[in-house]
Amino acid sequence: MDRDFLVPEPLATPQGTVAFFDETWSVDPRELQIFFQAEQVYWTADRTIEQWRRLLACSRLLTARLVPEGHRGGRLVGATRLWSDHAYEAKLYDVVTAQDIMGFGVASELVKWALRHPWVGEVHRFVLETRDAAEFYPRFGFRMGHEMESLHMRVKTSELQARGLR
Ligand SMILES: CC(C)(COP(=O)(O)OP(=O)(O)OC[C@H]1O[C@@H](n2cnc3c(N)ncnc32)[C@H](O)[C@@H]1OP(=O)(O)O)[C@@H](O)C(=O)NCCC(=O)NCCS
Repeated sequence: MDRDFLVPEPLATPQGTVAFFDETWSVDPRELQIFFQAEQVYWTADRTIEQWRRLLACSRLLTARLVPEGHRGGRLVGATRLWSDHAYEAKLYDVVTAQDIMGFGVASELVKWALRHPWVGEVHRFVLETRDAAEFYPRFGFRMGHEMESLHMRVKTSELQARGLR
């Protein structure tokens, strides 16, 4: 499969050209932390550099950068993290676009790229969790868990500890 075919085409925005990169192995976790803090992404507020490193070791990090000619190294303006068990389930995390460049298709390109990313393998489904953007995902086919054949269940590790299970 042609790798270049799978990467989204650069996107023209009023702020300039946005290009897309798979930066799993090359991104500086400190840059990610600064970006997510600057964009006030609440669920990453207490994420440390060490946690970013561990997350990058088991998932893929797809980015969008504002660049003059589609080259690596421009300002980070979007990110999506992708995880897969390569057999049944893949999951999208950390879907974020910089506030000054929202509404131009950056997140849509990142999500569509994640959904066709070959690293995922042959899985049965993609899942994600969202508090604020539930209306964004149906355009890609996502539906609420209670509308599907099974219910999504989870438990916090603090609850497990309280029960003596961890
Ligand atoms: C949600 C988010 C990633 C969308 O990024 P984006 O690059 O602006 O998205 P796109 O330009 O590809 O798509 C824009 C479309 O999504 C819709 N959209 C954007 N944010 C939305 C939200 N929070 N809820 C519902 N719809 C949303 C827009 O109305 C627009 O719809 P249209 O195409 O019908 O006009 C961005 O708003 C963001 O970073 N929000 C803060 C972080 C967040 O909540 N992330 C989702 C975590 S699961």
